[in-house]
Amino acid sequence: MYTRLLVNAFLAVTVVVVFGQVTPEELEPLLVGLAQKPREIGTPQLERRVPLSTNDSTVAPLIDLQVFAPPVIPQDGTSCEVVLLEHIFGDGSFGAPAIVPYIPPTDDTCGEVGKWAAISLNLTTYSIGTQYDRLGVIYLSLAEIWRTSSAEPTKTGTIWTTIKDVTHFTPLFAQEGNLKMDFSNIIDPSLLLDGVFNVTLTATFYAPTENFATPQTSDLILPLSNLSPNLTNYFAVDTDAGGTTNISLPDTAVEAYVEVFCSGNSAEEFWYLNTPDEFLDAFPAETGLIGKGPFREVQVLVDDQLAGVVWPYAVIYTGGITPSNWRPLTSYGAYDAPTYWVDVTPFIPILLSDSEASHNITLKVVGQGLSPTFNSNWFLSGSVHVRTGSSKTTGRITVYDVPEPKIETTGGASAGNVTVWTKVTANRSLNIESELNTAEGVKKVKFSQTLSYINEASYADEGWIQSANQTTTGTTTSTHQGVQVLRDAFTYPIGVFSNYSLFSEQFGGYGSEINQTHTRALQPPTGGGSHTIHSVQHAKGFIGMDDWPGLRHAINGTGATEQTFAYTSSNPERGGAAARATYFRDVATKNDGWVRDSVWGTLREENPPVPPEQIFGEGGGPGFRRSVLGKIGRRGF
Ligand SMILES: *[C@@H]1O[C@H](CO)[C@@H](O)[C@H](O)[C@H]1NC(C)=O
Ligand SMILES: *[C@@H]1O[C@H](CO)[C@@H](O)[C@H](O)[C@H]1NC(C)=O
Ligand SMILES: *[C@@H]1O[C@H](CO)[C@@H](O)[C@H](O)[C@H]1NC(C)=O
Ligand SMILES: *[C@@H]1O[C@H](CO)[C@@H](O)[C@H](O)[C@H]1NC(C)=O
Ligand SMILES: *[C@@H]1O[C@H](CO)[C@@H](O)[C@H](O)[C@H]1NC(C)=O
Ligand SMILES: *[C@@H]1O[C@H](CO)[C@@H](O)[C@H](O)[C@H]1NC(C)=O
Ligand SMILES: *[C@@H]1O[C@H](CO)[C@@H](O)[C@H](O)[C@H]1NC(C)=O
Ligand SMILES: *[C@@H]1O[C@H](CO)[C@@H](O)[C@H](O)[C@H]1NC(C)=O
Ligand SMILES: *[C@@H]1O[C@H](CO)[C@@H](O)[C@H](O)[C@H]1NC(C)=O
Ligand SMILES: *[C@@H]1O[C@H](CO)[C@@H](O)[C@H](O)[C@H]1NC(C)=O
Ligand SMILES: *[C@@H]1O[C@H](CO)[C@@H](O)[C@H](O)[C@H]1NC(C)=O
Ligand SMILES: *[C@@H]1O[C@H](CO)[C@@H](O)[C@H](O)[C@H]1NC(C)=O
Repeated sequence: MYTRLLVNAFLAVTVVVVFGQVTPEELEPLLVGLAQKPREIGTPQLERRVPLSTNDSTVAPLIDLQVFAPPVIPQDGTSCEVVLLEHIFGDGSFGAPAIVPYIPPTDDTCGEVGKWAAISLNLTTYSIGTQYDRLGVIYLSLAEIWRTSSAEPTKTGTIWTTIKDVTHFTPLFAQEGNLKMDFSNIIDPSLLLDGVFNVTLTATFYAPTENFATPQTSDLILPLSNLSPNLTNYFAVDTDAGGTTNISLPDTAVEAYVEVFCSGNSAEEFWYLNTPDEFLDAFPAETGLIGKGPFREVQVLVDDQLAGVVWPYAVIYTGGITPSNWRPLTSYGAYDAPTYWVDVTPFIPILLSDSEASHNITLKVVGQGLSPTFNSNWFLSGSVHVRTGSSKTTGRITVYDVPEPKIETTGGASAGNVTVWTKVTANRSLNIESELNTAEGVKKVKFSQTLSYINEASYADEGWIQSANQTTTGTTTSTHQGVQVLRDAFTYPIGVFSNYSLFSEQFGGYGSEINQTHTRALQPPTGGGSHTIHSVQHAKGFIGMDDWPGLRHAINGTGATEQTFAYTSSNPERGGAAARATYFRDVATKNDGWVRDSVWGTLREENPPVPPEQIFGEGGGPGFRRSVLGKIGRRGF
């Protein structure tokens, strides 16, 4: 994917912060924790600053990161670290994933195969040069386990590390298979693209301890993917048919959950800023606004019957909207995209019935346009997490209440379309119930979703100026015989103001201001425990560009991004510090430099702040700049 410079104007704005379905009780500990920020320690050491501009001779790479809560791991007991992959994604890596055999670790320190307390992955990438942001995807035995993307590198080197808890993929890690990473990169001297991605992926396996038992994960994981042995495995979807995987469940299945990975790419990278078709003619084609509206639903279907939906969080990649906003601090989700769960347990009777020769699960996207309803394209994949019993499961769906969503588009314009506004609202509720006879007895299963969505946009200057505020709120719950097995309550507001007024000027440019919040209380259905995340980001920046027309290069830019992040998790099956964990962070960057970074909470040491020698202090860094061979712009941006 790369920045849609020519294609879109965005914009933005604010965000109505509605906490929606996340309860005040869930949110309070996060807000209280954030208020307990410790006093700053350490002072900036500017003389040891990291290099940023092309003529800088220092060699320490700029630390770049997405804020994440590190995995909760046993504090005592043994563990082992295994290198899964070392690979350089450079010339020729486009469409050519790295594939290596995977063998479960057998050293005593790792713990018994398949009985680990936790598994974490460390993905570290180093890059030096110039590059677009690229999507990265990691698969274990053809099932996606991580969707990531790249930093915008610097001429003097960038390094970024993300740690991810992958314990719930234990059934895959317990078997021999292969590990595949697709990080399709483009090296092209004519586009000045020379940054390769030097990737190290390690896994750490933790043996169970008294306080930290082996969690109950699924018994079996089936990929929902194109199953190609040598290519990337997500479905690159550009039709309303979506991507279908034939599925054969063991007939003793007691529970089955679908985990979904999804992201918009190309003309769908900024789907939430796309314009309803009814209003596209208000703008000249040169503005490059994209149609089919801003509302997107990702659907999970069993044998063509809707089983549940995802109203996704908008991940902004590091080249997104205004690239200078996201180096060295990315938007939430850029290096570890959120995933979503649909309980397909109510459909086990259908998946096990012999009336059809085979059964399947489909992942598809529905937008607001016509045939197809969305633009090209979305990348969809997932997996089915199955728990089995000791006897054949039977049963039937007793309630299937899945009405169409209510989607409304309104809008208007001033005389001559000088200013245009649009509003899209959507609501959906569904409820699916089954009665199952399983090895564990009779189970009444109830899966429900309630979702609401609003997107308001306004445009000026023929569409070169855009403001959009979108909020997606919802709750997904599932109970099995009255016991809650899944709960996902979220509010995702995003506001974007973008200004491309001077985009097509000699030495023009573009800028944006963005607010984005991710508030989510999640009890995932496998692995035990639950957590709540509250991430609030504000970013503002601009990019100056060289000659128009021609191949536009960014020649300078500024960007400032601030983020507060709070995380709490609880797992009553664990003792000691692992029962309740917290992670808080207050971080800011400006002009390619770290302004401040404070981390507190029980997990601080697992993901500490950037070291003092990377902190520039209040003024931030010098910002990105490239020499322009003596030319002088008519107007700066
Ligand atoms: C972002 O939020 C700030 C603080 O609420 C507000 O002043 C600003 O207008 C917002 N900007 C956008 C683009 O949402
Ligand atoms: C979005 O919210 C911001 C800040 O509240 C506001 O200034 C702007 O007008 C809003 N934009 C739209 C299209 O409603
Ligand atoms: C790099 O060049 C810029 C102007 O081109 C100059 O201001 C700056 O001092 C130089 N930096 C170093 C480290 O030489
Ligand atoms: C992650 O991996 C990198 C490279 O292998 C290593 O330098 C770094 O220390 C690791 N980080 C953690 C927290 O394990
Ligand atoms: C890639 O990273 C490894 C480990 O950090 C290092 O040994 C190697 O020299 C790097 N290669 C390149 C081409 O940067
Ligand atoms: C991928 O595998 C298929 C089937 O084994 C083979 O036909 C195809 O040539 C392979 N493609 C590449 C790029 O290796
Ligand atoms: C899925 O099953 C159907 C019906 O048996 C079959 O026609 C189709 O080829 C299968 N698809 C794949 C990808 O195996
Ligand atoms: C204004 O926009 C509408 C579409 O919303 C379009 O049909 C109409 O032709 C436009 N009028 C002008 C004067 O551009
Ligand atoms: C999926 O299964 C349904 C029901 O058997 C069938 O109608 C449909 O054709 C299948 N889809 C694909 C792509 O095989
Ligand atoms: C639909 O969603 C909108 C926007 O979130 C909300 O204001 C409205 O109350 C919802 N309507 C229903 C019927 O849920
Ligand atoms: C970016 O470069 C242009 C052209 O040289 C110049 O006019 C403008 O002032 C520069 N902006 C910044 C922030 O350096
Ligand atoms: C867009 O940016 C230009 C250049 O900085 C500025 O003159 C103009 O006022 C901006 N427009 C808006 C609506 O902010």
